[in-house]
Amino acid sequence: MKKWYLVILLVLGLVGYYGLAQAVIGPCADCHTMHASQSPWDTTGWSSGVEGNPQSFLLGFAYGTSTSSACIACHSGSSSNPIKTLPGGSKVPVVFFTDSSPSGQGPGVTLAGGNFCWVSKDVGSQEDTKGHNVEGLADQDSVLGTYDPPGWDPDYTSGFTFGQVTGGNNSTWSQQLTCAGTYGCHGFHTDKGIGGSHHNNKGSVPATSYGVVPATGTDNCGGYYRFLANIEGGEAGDWENAASSGSHNEYKGANVTSNRNVEDPSAPPSDQTTISYLCAECHGVFHSRISDQTTPATPFLRHPTDTLLPTSSEPASDEYNSYTSYSILAPVARTTIPDSPSSDVTPGTDIVMCLSCHRAHGSPEPDLLRWDYDGCVAGTNNANCGCFVCHTKKDAD
Ligand code: HEC
Ligand code: HEC
Ligand code: HEC
Ligand code: HEC
Ligand code: HEC
Repeated sequence: MKKWYLVILLVLGLVGYYGLAQAVIGPCADCHTMHASQSPWDTTGWSSGVEGNPQSFLLGFAYGTSTSSACIACHSGSSSNPIKTLPGGSKVPVVFFTDSSPSGQGPGVTLAGGNFCWVSKDVGSQEDTKGHNVEGLADQDSVLGTYDPPGWDPDYTSGFTFGQVTGGNNSTWSQQLTCAGTYGCHGFHTDKGIGGSHHNNKGSVPATSYGVVPATGTDNCGGYYRFLANIEGGEAGDWENAASSGSHNEYKGANVTSNRNVEDPSAPPSDQTTISYLCAECHGVFHSRISDQTTPATPFLRHPTDTLLPTSSEPASDEYNSYTSYSILAPVARTTIPDSPSSDVTPGTDIVMCLSCHRAHGSPEPDLLRWDYDGCVAGTNNANCGCFVCHTKKDAD
């Protein structure tokens, strides 16, 4: 009997451990500084730039003087290890390599979102098309020549519970993108930003195991996919550092059929929990007018997202029927996030999304693409071309 008690205690202990381990761990001083002044500075983690340059939430990291300064400093590291460990044991996903830009992308090279090194003004030569020009990492995008996101439509976040990008009503942007906040992607689109998310991080166990976010909470964004307000998903614990067909993030998609055929959408789409909606918060036009039909259908006007991969009963079916094994190169989104990552793809059920083709942060390819688009040549086989993962009849066969 006693043995059973021990087993039960052990199991309860493990459950408790994993429950707590979902948020950041370690001594406060690993990450916070009380007076933006501390001596002697620990050279392993602290950035001395914080002295005289205090950061929000009393954070002890700084990279330059932008509002994204602390996020960039803590989430940066060497390209030799996309996951870095703080002295107290917290594992930090690295989104900015400060030493060099690798030649490739994907598992073993970059995490799921890609990396900011290619677009950075400090590491490379700021290749503007290869990443989001986040303030502090890169100067204004000189190719676009404007602060506006391509396809910008402020109405796409009108009435959004978590705040409107730019604060609303802006027809043009007046500043660069930031990690979080009113002009940012993560957290609330208000001054509150991600405030409170790190200590309330839900879903995966960092650097360990996959988990589905509960997609709840209006105090902070710890309960949403990667601190992206209202977005659902399944989080790979290793942020896809070692992704494969059976081990990866699961992205939320929906078969959105309404409000898809207007050039200037006056309201958000019916589903505001998808990863493509996150992109559309700033690039709304690319998500809205994809087809002239009420229910999106061929001929399309823009590459569809938040639409189904067609099944055999529909025209052009053969093309998509062969996509049955999940591809890290050109992934699909799910209408329901599975409890564990699935290696299957089901045409007729699964969804094409912005991240089927793009990375969120940056990549070595123009337009943050997941593969070399120049290598996509109709009539020629190329296992590294993501277009062929879905359009299986457009290569040599
Ligand atoms: C591994 C890094 C890390 C450690 C360790 C850490 N924090 Fe934080 N903390 C953060 C980050 C990052 C933020 C700011 C962003 C956010 O709120 O998500 C933050 C925000 C906060 C906030 C404001 C938001 C909130 O959740 O209320 C408080 C208060 C706070 N920390 C207290 C503490 C205390 C007290 C300790 C030690 C017992 C501690 N932190 C340890 C990283 C850490
Ligand atoms: C002091 C270091 C530190 C700072 C500063 C910091 N983070 Fe983090 N961040 C972490 C750690 C550690 C994790 C790993 C998640 C965990 O342990 O819960 C993390 C995880 C994340 C994640 C992934 C959450 C997930 O679901 O896995 C996002 C997104 C993020 N941080 C955004 C930000 C943003 C935006 C800022 C700036 C406002 C920021 N971080 C500032 C340490 C930091
Ligand atoms: C908070 C606003 C915001 C969100 C959310 C956002 N973007 Fe952007 N995006 C911008 C801005 C601003 C630019 C133009 C300047 C730049 O390159 O950073 C841009 C540029 C781009 C570009 C062109 C890059 C170039 O320089 O040529 C691509 C591709 C892109 N975004 C894809 C995405 C995808 C995919 C998502 C969703 C994962 C997304 N964006 C989410 C604001 C946003
Ligand atoms: C089928 C693949 C695919 C999907 C899905 C896709 N894109 Fe793109 N996107 C591309 C390619 C390829 C380019 C660059 C070349 C081109 O425009 O043909 C591009 C370019 C862009 C640009 C730069 C435009 C410019 O004028 O510089 C932005 C911004 C962008 N995409 C955002 C998005 C957003 C947001 C979504 C989801 C709503 C999305 N993309 C879905 C493949 C895709
Ligand atoms: C994740 C799967 C996926 C990927 C990757 C993908 N597509 Fe598509 N594509 C689709 C789906 C689904 C449709 C809509 C099919 C339908 O409903 O008839 C589509 C439609 C199209 C259409 C319009 C067809 C029409 O009938 O109007 C073109 C052109 C196209 N894709 C080109 C590309 C190119 C080029 C790439 C690579 C940059 C690409 N696609 C990558 C899934 C994908």
